[in-house]
Amino acid sequence: MHIPVLTIDGPSGAGKGTVSRLVAKKLGWNYLDSGSIYRSLAIALLKQSIDLTNEAEIINVAKAMMLEFECGDELVVKLNGEDITAQLALESTGNIASIVAALPAVRQVLLQKQKDFRQLPGLVADGRDMGTVVFPDAENKVFLTASAVKRAERRYKQLIEKGIDANLIDLTNEIEERDRRDMERKAAPLAMASDALYIDSSEMTINAVIEEVLNLIH
Ligand code: C5P
Repeated sequence: MHIPVLTIDGPSGAGKGTVSRLVAKKLGWNYLDSGSIYRSLAIALLKQSIDLTNEAEIINVAKAMMLEFECGDELVVKLNGEDITAQLALESTGNIASIVAALPAVRQVLLQKQKDFRQLPGLVADGRDMGTVVFPDAENKVFLTASAVKRAERRYKQLIEKGIDANLIDLTNEIEERDRRDMERKAAPLAMASDALYIDSSEMTINAVIEEVLNLIH
């Protein structure tokens, strides 16, 4: 049975999460936030005080991780039965996620966990390599980006709304550093699939982006 997939890749803070969630809701499709899988691994590593240079241990933790996703209005993620949703959004979690996401063996271990989300009636998958590596056969692909300054401003607003302390200059620096790490790594670097639609959301509202994505599907 063929299950349709829409992939939405791009750098952090481009609006992928919001757009993907709302498009999935409109279509009645499942939603994969692949970054949350890498972020969950980061939390598991912190909880077990694993040395981030110990690749063998990192892989063991990735293999043993039991993840549950509850997709309501907000995504709730449980790691080995414990609700880790609050820690997922932290910038420090994203930074550790991007360090371990550069390891090819880690990506290999987490590949099947991501493919498992492809269920009827369809899937919206958000990440860095959804259209290039995880679902290369997806019929609809989007590469969503925005300037680093705009992305930092959006992240700042999101964090403040969640009651998390943030500093705009630090955020811009962290976003640029994370972009560099994600684009320069050898394993599944952040890159636009050749058959993806490019959308720069710097000067667009979320609704305008959603409309453009839905037009692609219909
Ligand atoms: O998208 P999000 O900010 O939650 O992702 C956190 C980190 O996880 C990214 O900076 C990236 O290094 C990694 N990631 C990845 N591949 C994906 C999704 C996320 O390498 N498909």
